[in-house]
Amino acid sequence: MLYHMFHVCVLSMSARSDGYGGRDVPKFIPYGSGVSCKLKPALGEQVQYPAKVQSALSIQICFVETTMATSKLMRAIRVSEFGAPSVLKLCTDVPVPSPGQKQVLIRVHACGVNPVETYIRSGSYARIPSLPYTPGSDVSGVVEAVGEGVHLLQAGDRVFTIGTVTGGYAEYTVASEDTVYKLPDSLDYKQGAAIGIPYFTAYQALVHRAHAKAGETVLIHGASGGVGIAACQIARAFGLKVLGTAGTSEGMKLVLSNGAHLAFNHREQDYLDKIKDATNGKGVNVIIEMLSNVNLSNDLQLLDFFGRVMIVGSRGPIEINPRDTMMKQTSIIGVSLYNAPKKEKSECAAALFAGMEAGWLKPAIGPQYTLDKVAQAHEDIINSPGASGKMILIM
Ligand SMILES: NC(=O)c1ccc[n+]([C@@H]2O[C@H](COP(=O)([O-])OP(=O)(O)OC[C@H]3O[C@@H](n4cnc5c(N)ncnc54)[C@H](OP(=O)(O)O)[C@@H]3O)[C@@H](O)[C@H]2O)c1
Repeated sequence: MLYHMFHVCVLSMSARSDGYGGRDVPKFIPYGSGVSCKLKPALGEQVQYPAKVQSALSIQICFVETTMATSKLMRAIRVSEFGAPSVLKLCTDVPVPSPGQKQVLIRVHACGVNPVETYIRSGSYARIPSLPYTPGSDVSGVVEAVGEGVHLLQAGDRVFTIGTVTGGYAEYTVASEDTVYKLPDSLDYKQGAAIGIPYFTAYQALVHRAHAKAGETVLIHGASGGVGIAACQIARAFGLKVLGTAGTSEGMKLVLSNGAHLAFNHREQDYLDKIKDATNGKGVNVIIEMLSNVNLSNDLQLLDFFGRVMIVGSRGPIEINPRDTMMKQTSIIGVSLYNAPKKEKSECAAALFAGMEAGWLKPAIGPQYTLDKVAQAHEDIINSPGASGKMILIM
């Protein structure tokens, strides 16, 4: 891998009229980039600073651009064959990627683990990457460097992503500028890694696909995980009556403390009756369904007139009777964040930022794993005894 670097020899240095001076040098040096970082370079000292430094300081220098092989390596998960979780290999000698046009390099602090990453890893998903690859799309961290044409972000920004180019299960990742958002100070990096796919999906399902309205009743069928908690918070903030399900009492408590008015245990025999009772027998207006292959047929019995079931998650086929949709004129609607139009994603981002500002968007973090335990994380997210918030990796 080639890396452009400016070798700078500082001969003299003074503060500029715009206020920049030697003390500002560290601001322009990407943290942890391997570039030496001193408060004030000594006169005549050999240092290596990015071009930005040169334009920001009035320094008299010898300035030579060179191209050299980078020696910067990182820890990252690599997948070289599709299969069981054991194909997730921790490598310690992966070159740190370089940001291209309109891309940024992010030093990753945390990365969300999403069920779809297990389907892709197994090779059974409709959309699979070419091998080898690094999984992961929802990172949070700090911008380390920016590529050509990046205008909205700069080194040092705290950010989160809803997609990466080079994979998020790594110490560094490259992402397109349009998939990177500034992380407000009110949220920590773990929470930042829980926003991407879960909150954007929940918003898309509730607002863009279901057209849920204030005053309606929504059932979040599988509310204790990443998407479910997000859906509870958004639905509550938007004025819906929120019913959520979980498979454990711990999960039910979490659902209640994240926006649900009522919680039900989807492992109990009679929980569907309890949900129906909670709506005085009318049924719910919207269902956000996390396990359609198990629940879709029952969902159709739970809907009110003109009710809508949003297919967010499904792990296989199920038989339904189409007639169940006729009497109440109900709809079954698929949701795919991956194929959401750009405009909808921008709307999601705007609404979610309003939630971060107002304080109702607060991701609940569940199990946390280090990179070397990623195979266990993939095992656990599929065979979980009960979700308790968003699963993440810590770098
Ligand atoms: N369509 C899209 O664009 C899109 C985007 C993101 C995610 N998804 C899919 O949505 C699903 C949820 O994702 P996630 O990130 O929230 O996963 P997660 O964090 O692993 O949560 C899974 C949720 O499913 C619940 N669940 C388990 N058994 C259930 C049952 N019988 N009935 C109802 N819910 C049940 C779990 O509850 P307990 O563990 O408490 O039992 C938990 O709340 C996954 O299938 C994922 O692939 C789709």
